[in-house]
Amino acid sequence: LMIPVILSGGSGTRLWPLSRESYPKQFLPLTGKDTMLQATWLRIAPLASSAPMVVANEAHRFMVAEQLRQVGCVPSAILLEPVGRNTAPAIAVAALQATREGADPLLLVLPSDHVIKDALAFQAAVRQAEPAAAQGRLVTFGIVPDGPETGYGYIRAGADVGEGVRQVAQFVEKPDAATAQQYVASGEYVWNSGMFLFRASVYLAELERQQPAMLAACRAAIEGAARDADFVRLDKAAFAACPADSIDYAVMERTDAAAVLPIDVGWNDLGSWSALWEVAEQDGEGNAHHGDVVAQDCRNTLAWAEGRLVALLGLDDVVVVDTADAVLVAHKDRVQDVKGIVARLKAEG
Ligand code: GDD
Ligand code: MG
Repeated sequence: LMIPVILSGGSGTRLWPLSRESYPKQFLPLTGKDTMLQATWLRIAPLASSAPMVVANEAHRFMVAEQLRQVGCVPSAILLEPVGRNTAPAIAVAALQATREGADPLLLVLPSDHVIKDALAFQAAVRQAEPAAAQGRLVTFGIVPDGPETGYGYIRAGADVGEGVRQVAQFVEKPDAATAQQYVASGEYVWNSGMFLFRASVYLAELERQQPAMLAACRAAIEGAARDADFVRLDKAAFAACPADSIDYAVMERTDAAAVLPIDVGWNDLGSWSALWEVAEQDGEGNAHHGDVVAQDCRNTLAWAEGRLVALLGLDDVVVVDTADAVLVAHKDRVQDVKGIVARLKAEG
């Protein structure tokens, strides 16, 4: 049995002003007619032997339920977090839910904000990773890096454990720029895609070893959960008391059971406006448009118009995003720092 676990609790601040706290990027149709959440389900639906679980912020429960309904997806549970505690606890509550009746399924953990151009190749990769996961490995999918990005985990692959799955010799989450440079230059590292396949019990055993306080808090949050239809509302006090950390720092950097399957599936994590520009359809000059846009004598621009007409003239490498109540104009090399603008806006109220 393989249960998809879709993580849908991020806030996507680097895609401000389109992505908002109340309406983060996973709920937006950024690259086509489906939202990122819907696309996440649709690309693996043919492979899933079971309905998915979704882990999301309580505030987004109706959006999650409605968007899944629109694509004919009936989740087995929507686990609702009263507060975000990052991905390690989010996956832990899913694993606890999945093992409640003594079952021990494989969990296919999927972030809800990635683009994968070749869904069939990805499905094949998941099948390829199944035996290693069934045998007790925490399998991640590796991406050949195309630059020294510091926002990713880096993995050095070791010995082959069968079917092209390799032992993880080293896992370094979000290295500094110099280290990332060195890793990419060596040609020995792949990025962690943030998608995982493992047995629920293997992940829980690993948490027991590495993060016992986190596991205990998650257990209390699931035991005290209020259940109504497919909504599972985690116990607020218990989950709020859980230490916050990502699976990458909390488990993957520490465990001996990690393995990686390198994949080539047209993956992009849409982490910023420049990532969106990369996957968007571009004209001969490298300009990508969404909505009502006119660009003249421009190169490599991204213009996103939600309502009004947006015109660009004589610009290179610029991102313009126009929404009803906010406009972003940024150099394409600086879009990682949109996060900083959002933090500043929040601090200034
Ligand atoms: N339910 C829930 N609760 N989901 C969450 C939470 C949470 O508290 N925090 C994040 N998520 C979801 C996000 O919505 C996203 O889909 C996924 O979990 C990953 O979180 P990110 O915050 O986007 O992680 P990251 O991009 O910084 O890093 C991860 O992904 C990289 C690849 O995109 C790591 O796994 C890196 O190692 C990896 O390279
Ligand atoms: Mg991400």
